[in-house]
Amino acid sequence: MCGIVAYISRDLEKRDKIEDMLISSLRRLTYRGYDSWGIGFKGNNKIHIIKNVGDIENVNKLNLGFENSLIGIAHTRWATHGGVTKINAHPHLCCKKEIAVVHNGIIENYKELKEELIKNGHSFISETDTEVIPHLIEEKYKLCNNFEIAFKEAIKELKGSFAIVAIHKDFDGIACYRNGAPLVIGISSNGYFVSSDVVAFLNYTKKAIYLDDEEVAILKRNERDIELKIWKNEKEVKKEIKEISWNFEEATKLGYKHFMIKEIIEQPESIRNALMQNEKEMLEVAMEILRAKQVIFTACGTSRYAAIIGRYLFSKVARKFCDVIMASEFHYFSDSVDKDTLVIAVSQSGETADVLFGIKKAKENGAKIFSIVNVMNSTLARLSDKVIYTNAGPEICVAATKSFTNQLVVLYLLAYSMVNKFEEARSNIRKIAEIIKKSIEENNKNIEEIARKVKDKDHFYYIGRGINFAMANEGALKLKEISYIHAEGMPAGELKHGTIALIEKNTPVVVIAPKDYTYYETLSNAMETKARGAFVIGVTDYAHDVFDAIIEIPKVEEIFYPLVTIAPLQLLSYYVAVERGLNPDKPRNLAKSVTVK
Ligand code: F6R
Repeated sequence: MCGIVAYISRDLEKRDKIEDMLISSLRRLTYRGYDSWGIGFKGNNKIHIIKNVGDIENVNKLNLGFENSLIGIAHTRWATHGGVTKINAHPHLCCKKEIAVVHNGIIENYKELKEELIKNGHSFISETDTEVIPHLIEEKYKLCNNFEIAFKEAIKELKGSFAIVAIHKDFDGIACYRNGAPLVIGISSNGYFVSSDVVAFLNYTKKAIYLDDEEVAILKRNERDIELKIWKNEKEVKKEIKEISWNFEEATKLGYKHFMIKEIIEQPESIRNALMQNEKEMLEVAMEILRAKQVIFTACGTSRYAAIIGRYLFSKVARKFCDVIMASEFHYFSDSVDKDTLVIAVSQSGETADVLFGIKKAKENGAKIFSIVNVMNSTLARLSDKVIYTNAGPEICVAATKSFTNQLVVLYLLAYSMVNKFEEARSNIRKIAEIIKKSIEENNKNIEEIARKVKDKDHFYYIGRGINFAMANEGALKLKEISYIHAEGMPAGELKHGTIALIEKNTPVVVIAPKDYTYYETLSNAMETKARGAFVIGVTDYAHDVFDAIIEIPKVEEIFYPLVTIAPLQLLSYYVAVERGLNPDKPRNLAKSVTVK
């Protein structure tokens, strides 16, 4: 979704070239998904804007002559209100072109505000909700002639979930406001960054201040330095400077063709990082889960499939029943969520709007919130009563890979902690990490060949039973996201209740069939598809004639099969996308961090 980055330089002598910095920081945000971009500088008593649709990767240098500027704002837009056009790209300006704004999120009352502003003589050029913000600040500015006051007054009238950064041609600083969408301030030796995401400035600094909802930050240059003040409800607040644990190198391709393949291959290492959990804390969390009257997982997309696997694990290992509700539907069940409910939210980004909305509602009803999160200090992490970090490091490819696997590892550790076998699980999974490394190396070529055979198909079906059913869903989601092939994942037993009508000659059916408690029943369902002409691809450690092609997985203890099944499924979708000439890192229409409902 939209990415914000802004920079204010500390002093003239030691300044960085702001144009280059903003472009490179914007490029690091493009993984979030975008369709247009824009940059604004304060210089020569004016605001200067450049924006465009499409790819910022090809823009080498803007050559606007504003290397000497000390203040700039930049944005990658993921269209919500209004089409993908240059005019709709941010920054947006007020009538006099003196105020520029970049924004992430949605201004829900923009229509009413726009009508009022038009009545007051303002004219608009874009279809966006964002454009009301500079005009509203301009309107307030008319009354007080002070940008800082005008900004603070304007934001009081905005409704919705958003983050905003604004500059004024006569104000030697940057004004920011967070209300529902992430905003973090990076403190480097030469200046301050403001961004939606630490990845934008990770190569400059690891020191950060995370804004909370309803906080306004004003960064203002004085004689030799920058003054940073943060307010909440008109009261000044002191915030802690946090150290970011990620490394810049982790967010680079390191010679790989795509982030996706890099992130698939580095899974054995990221699994080892997921295992770095404090045993005592895990046991405490596990005991609270066991004690809770009602446990509900909530999550979206891939994270929800991890939660479904968690549900099977809790039941199988510890006989603890829980439910999984997709986050966008969760608040419709809030009548049944109360103080006896424990909600476990699973999220890579910790910023997914649907998840945040659902848990806020649950919290209001008195529920306890635990979360399994990858991004440190994310909003979800800060809203939760307890957090377990998955330690997958930065995941840049839009499609989740290593973050999913690490979510599974945490769920295994939790399930085993419930029966006091944390260390047993940890040592088993440590061995499995090595097995996965070998399996990826050995499988690569074969999967690439299978991908070549099936790349032109229009429909895929993925089936599995029990714990493997969510793996089927995740395999199908990965394929459709990056190769744009229609794919459905479902419990194998459900196929004959409708979907089997769609199986034709050579329709690929991917069967998740490890030699576990589901094997023979799943095989029967595979045969039913074969009898209708399907091209059956078995993901298995136990060959059978029904399979037209086999993706071999290593033999492991039955319960751990999901950990060795996932990389082959990810590789299959990766190679199909590459064979179709697509860039798997940046799938169309998708965003890494879905910060709108
Ligand atoms: C799929 C994918 C999405 C996310 C979903 C939730 O590859 O990445 O389905 O899993 O948008 O995102 P998080 O986990 O950040 O809450």
